[in-house]
Amino acid sequence: MERKRGLVPAGSALGMEMVVSLGRWIGSGAGVLFLSLLVVAGCTQGSGQLPLPPDAQLLEDPSFRRNIQPILAEYCVKCHNNADDHGELVLETYDSIMRSPRKVPVVVPGSPEKSLLVEVIAHESITKMPFHGEKLTPNRIANIETWVRLGARDD
Ligand code: HEC
Repeated sequence: MERKRGLVPAGSALGMEMVVSLGRWIGSGAGVLFLSLLVVAGCTQGSGQLPLPPDAQLLEDPSFRRNIQPILAEYCVKCHNNADDHGELVLETYDSIMRSPRKVPVVVPGSPEKSLLVEVIAHESITKMPFHGEKLTPNRIANIETWVRLGARDD
């Protein structure tokens, strides 16, 4: 009984002390962790927007394969392909664009203003593309225009 009486008060006092200090330790640790999470979140937000897909960014010198072909593949090829060549125009490959059998060239290297491809996507001609679809974003239009202006290279 003496042993038990001796242990219980000692044990409970130690227990309380431990709980309090553990609580303080967790409190400060969690506080620091919470603050650093806030800082990390703040930094992420402060560093600007999330990266855009490459073809959605405004590019100085777009590459046909990396930047232009993906735009055509996404927005044009479902109609302008070998099986279903609307306006006798296949926009699948570089060669199919440059060697279109149409009388009017689709792309005049160096001259976006003479290129039907640029006119239709900029909605500058009667025919507007994508056909009955939403106009491409300004950056995508600008990238295609820049690619034509810089010589419409097969790069
Ligand atoms: C939903 C089907 C569809 C989609 C998507 C589409 N086109 Fe067309 N396109 C057509 C049809 C149909 C014609 C023929 C329309 C006409 O002559 O009025 C045409 C004609 C054209 C012409 C020839 C215009 C002329 O005056 O002769 C060009 C250039 C063209 N499309 C480019 C594009 C480009 C670039 C895209 C993607 C940004 C695109 N098209 C997306 C259906 C489509």
